[in-house]
Amino acid sequence: MIAPSVLSADFLNLGRDVQMINDSQADWFHIDVMDGRFVPNISFGLPVLKAIKKVAKKPLDVHLMIVEPEKYFQDFKDAGADILSVHIETSTHLHRSLQAIKALGMKAGVAINPHTPVSLLADVICDTDLVCMMSVNPGFGGQSFIANTLNKIKELKQIIVAKNASTLIEIDGGVTLANAAEIVAAGADVLVAGNTVFSASNPTDMIAQLKLISK
Ligand code: DX5
Ligand code: ZN
Repeated sequence: MIAPSVLSADFLNLGRDVQMINDSQADWFHIDVMDGRFVPNISFGLPVLKAIKKVAKKPLDVHLMIVEPEKYFQDFKDAGADILSVHIETSTHLHRSLQAIKALGMKAGVAINPHTPVSLLADVICDTDLVCMMSVNPGFGGQSFIANTLNKIKELKQIIVAKNASTLIEIDGGVTLANAAEIVAAGADVLVAGNTVFSASNPTDMIAQLKLISK
């Protein structure tokens, strides 16, 4: 699956870019919420999400890069999130958070930074619908893919299979036409792409090309 990252959209033409994703072969909208505390950048929040939800024809995959995310689960549900991911690094009670997200009727995701071992996910993997594995340090679009992610994908896949879980693996950061095939071969189910899609001369066509590789 392909999830274009709205972070790289043209915010002055957000409606146009959302419509482009609607009309493309993309599967989800990837929406990056940053608070300037967990990550060194501030992106956008609930009002923007609500506006996107009004016209989006595909699920909203919301990636929370914020401290104390559990304070806002209800707000993100109300704003239209379909999948809500919290970072393992900000979640003291991760199991509780996953249950709370699901109790609100959303799919529950765990995002994990490049330095955090995937073995920490073993005991929550059966409660996790999606692992958003960071392949860059979170905070900015347009960074380079960290090669060690490929080993982490394989390791995580083994955990998922061993536990008989149905968790999807999403790769977030630095995905390009050049590395998408090896990321999928390593075991990824969903590719996030920001810069690769929105800096392309034809974003719709770029999504189609990524989609072909992800199949
Ligand atoms: C990074 C965000 C990513 C970002 C990916 O903190 O979580 O979703 O938008 O952008 P690219 O694909 O440009 O690396
Ligand atoms: Zn993201």
